[in-house]
Amino acid sequence: MEKIFNGQVALVTGGSFGIGRATAIAFAKRGASVVIADLIEDAEQVTMKEIAAMGGKAIFVPCDVSKAADIATLIDKTFSTYGRLDFAFNNAGIEGISAATHECTQENWEKVLAVNLTGVWLCMKHELSHMQRRGKGAIVNCASVAGLIGFPNLGAYVASKHAVIGLTKTAALENAKQGIRINAVCPGVIRTPMVDRITGRDKVAEQRFIEMEPVGRFGEPEEVAEAVVWLCSDAASFVTGHSLTVDGGWLAS
Ligand SMILES: NC(=O)c1ccc[n+]([C@@H]2O[C@H](COP(=O)([O-])OP(=O)(O)OC[C@H]3O[C@@H](n4cnc5c(N)ncnc54)[C@H](O)[C@@H]3O)[C@@H](O)[C@H]2O)c1
Repeated sequence: MEKIFNGQVALVTGGSFGIGRATAIAFAKRGASVVIADLIEDAEQVTMKEIAAMGGKAIFVPCDVSKAADIATLIDKTFSTYGRLDFAFNNAGIEGISAATHECTQENWEKVLAVNLTGVWLCMKHELSHMQRRGKGAIVNCASVAGLIGFPNLGAYVASKHAVIGLTKTAALENAKQGIRINAVCPGVIRTPMVDRITGRDKVAEQRFIEMEPVGRFGEPEEVAEAVVWLCSDAASFVTGHSLTVDGGWLAS
């Protein structure tokens, strides 16, 4: 694979598992040095080992994206290790507890918004101040098809993902003349630990999700990762403020 990101640095939040893991590996395959930030360090260190096996460079930084101090430390660690930041995939997110709007607890509401929305904002706040100094950079925020349509019993999640899209558009406009592009991806149903938690790996529950997908299957984390690296690449040089569905055609139906 062509090393289009040689000498450049990519930060991926939520990089221990799922879509974040696949994206960290996709950046490394193209020659980027990677910073993996996550609440949990995968005990088997799959992401780190895969990157090392391909001769790539990666560091792990423990971090809760909803905590301002953790994000400040994360960015400091990125600069003390690699001295630059070119790309960021603000991906860490949680599904929260399924409940109708009137039954959602304040605790669930605040937790989901803190990770999915405040986390993305805090990451961008710190990433942008460095990218603005260099006049260059690309950020991708992880939204969801739930950022574009409603889902019963997922009010906090849906609200957080709609807000991520609004924030992405706003930050993209603010930075459009400064050489920094900011986009979002909106995955459909992707086979990750998050979806395994939701379905309990129950075949009937999985089938219900598969039926929502016009292509008739789950997406794979690598298929979202490819969209993220494209959005960060020079091939997407005129793309900013966009929310790209990677959803097997779901929203076309
Ligand atoms: N899987 C899907 O079908 C799907 C669909 C649409 C959008 N998404 C979004 O994609 C992103 C990744 O989802 P996934 O399916 O890979 O989930 P996942 O649960 O499989 O992985 C999420 C990762 O984020 C980390 N994380 C969770 N809370 C964190 C925090 N506070 N600080 C730092 N790291 C934290 C987890 O440890 C994990 O490594 C999320 O934003 C999710 O909302 C997923």
